[in-house]
Amino acid sequence: METIKDIEKKHISVLLNELVDSIDIKKDEKNIIVDCTLGMWWHASKMIEKMNSGDIFVWFDADIKNLELARIRLDEVNKNKKVEIHLINSNFWNIKDELEKIWIKEITWIYYDLWLSSLHLDEADRWFSFMNDGPLDMRLDKTKWKTAADIVNSYKDSELREIFLKYWEEPGANKISKLIVENRRKKRFETTLELAKIIPWPIKVKSRIFQAIRIEVNEELEVLEKSLLDAIKILKKEWNIFVISFHSLEDRITKNIFRDESRDCICDDIICSCLHKKSIRILSKKPILPSEEEIKQNTRSRSAKARLAQKII
Ligand SMILES: C[S@@+](CC[C@H](N)C(=O)[O-])C[C@H]1O[C@@H](n2cnc3c(N)ncnc32)[C@H](O)[C@@H]1O
Repeated sequence: METIKDIEKKHISVLLNELVDSIDIKKDEKNIIVDCTLGMWWHASKMIEKMNSGDIFVWFDADIKNLELARIRLDEVNKNKKVEIHLINSNFWNIKDELEKIWIKEITWIYYDLWLSSLHLDEADRWFSFMNDGPLDMRLDKTKWKTAADIVNSYKDSELREIFLKYWEEPGANKISKLIVENRRKKRFETTLELAKIIPWPIKVKSRIFQAIRIEVNEELEVLEKSLLDAIKILKKEWNIFVISFHSLEDRITKNIFRDESRDCICDDIICSCLHKKSIRILSKKPILPSEEEIKQNTRSRSAKARLAQKII
């Protein structure tokens, strides 16, 4: 039978040393660290090794399964440290409100290792992928109402085209959205393979279409944008935020938010009307990338990019 340790091994963390080494734990201050994407807690366990007893460590994951596994291993991971750990089963969209519920208004470090763990990608009952047949769902958070089937069966032709263009600049967007609308008149799409079959293009295109639908189902870009802006607000002066992303849209959001938040004015007016004040300094002028060694050991790491910034006010 598969043990928790076997399950953990299915996900290899990315930029582990780069993330952990970028954190300067203070000895004379209470460190309050937030892991927004706990997953298989590889980053979190390394982080605990650096933390002091009595520090606070908050773990978010929208997927309850990950938190349940973490809860089972918690004592073992934390046995020599006695860090105060809070597990929060919530989308990181809510970080500010969720932290307030446990009386945390300011934090000293926050990091994101975005989107799915390899476990999700491999797991048959999640159906984020078109390689196996299963319900057309794609919700990371099962309490949300909108599934991939709802989108595919109810969005207008023009709305489908827009998400394929917006999220992946997919050149076949027009044709694919028409094909979807034509086919659903005959029969509602219920499974991943039913949808994959009608996209008569190579795997790359199927993959982009599935990803675009997944981004729409989970509102990934809006969620990330709100969360990063809130994270910067609650970060204490001189403390850092670290974001690892795996696709260009997520990286662009992080890059743009870091750029805007590190500027005093973000409007194009000759006399500034936005009155925006800079709140961070970018510490990674170029994105932090995995080493060749890491890419050799874990090919999934090749698309990872990280960015690091420091709060200055
Ligand atoms: C790449 S994995 C994290 C891996 C982890 N850092 C490790 O070292 O094992 C991303 C995790 O974040 C969770 N996640 C993704 N988007 C989320 C969101 N918007 N809110 C909360 N959790 C999210 C996923 O359920 C997944 O477990």
